[in-house]
Amino acid sequence: MGKPKLVISSGAGISAESGISTFRDAGGLWENVPVMEVASADGFRRNPEKVHQFYNERRHALLKAEPNAAHKALVDLEKDYDVYVITQNVDDLHERAGSRNVLHLHGELMKIRSVSDPEYVESLDIEHLDTTPATRGKNGDLMRPHIVFFQEPVPEIERAIEIVHNADIFVVVGTSLVVYPAAGLIECVRPGVPIYYIDPHPAKAAEMMSGVTIIKATATEGMERLKEILRGNKA
Ligand code: APR
Repeated sequence: MGKPKLVISSGAGISAESGISTFRDAGGLWENVPVMEVASADGFRRNPEKVHQFYNERRHALLKAEPNAAHKALVDLEKDYDVYVITQNVDDLHERAGSRNVLHLHGELMKIRSVSDPEYVESLDIEHLDTTPATRGKNGDLMRPHIVFFQEPVPEIERAIEIVHNADIFVVVGTSLVVYPAAGLIECVRPGVPIYYIDPHPAKAAEMMSGVTIIKATATEGMERLKEILRGNKA
């Protein structure tokens, strides 16, 4: 009998305490940047140079960020659980904290992929983080940010649903639950599986759901409280 499966769905809020902007909070990214110009398929078609530059800036900002105690608390929980991270975030802070099972629903900032072959993906090295529409991969293909833009499908959603369906505990941290299909994962939990939602300003949608324990706190405080709850239950 393996360890119980703990599945966490994380959003921008888990990286907020690492200094990375969220999107929809006061002062969030989308307050200052027109989302459909820099993070949509139409925007990329219209002005690829602007989109490459937007992600170049976010890569440089990510280099200055470190995983925070919330990312690390998840790694700590691997002592007691098989932990699966499903994240909407494109940063690599979960991996840098030591999480091993990380599924990125919206892509990865530190990777680029072929414009013509979505399966062909390359990792960027920190010496060459900046890309342009003329950037070519080692295979000669023109490359683009390895990001799921708005108006594009989310290739990993089926895998994510399967993981959530097998969860024994489901945790949602730091997401406004407004972007689908990621926001719909909370509906894929088997009946009776406990759900914990950690967010200082929890989305109303979750407050209406039965079976959800709201932990109204930041990710770092909330993860500590969650560990106490889970370890208390196990004692
Ligand atoms: N700890 C935990 N949660 C926090 C913190 C914190 N310190 N600070 C803010 N939050 C919460 C906010 O209350 C909010 O509920 O994080 C959430 C951030 O919501 P969004 O900015 O909408 O981010 P997210 O839900 O991840 O956005 C989903 O939208 O633009 C797209 O692709 C982008 O993946 C992103 C998706």
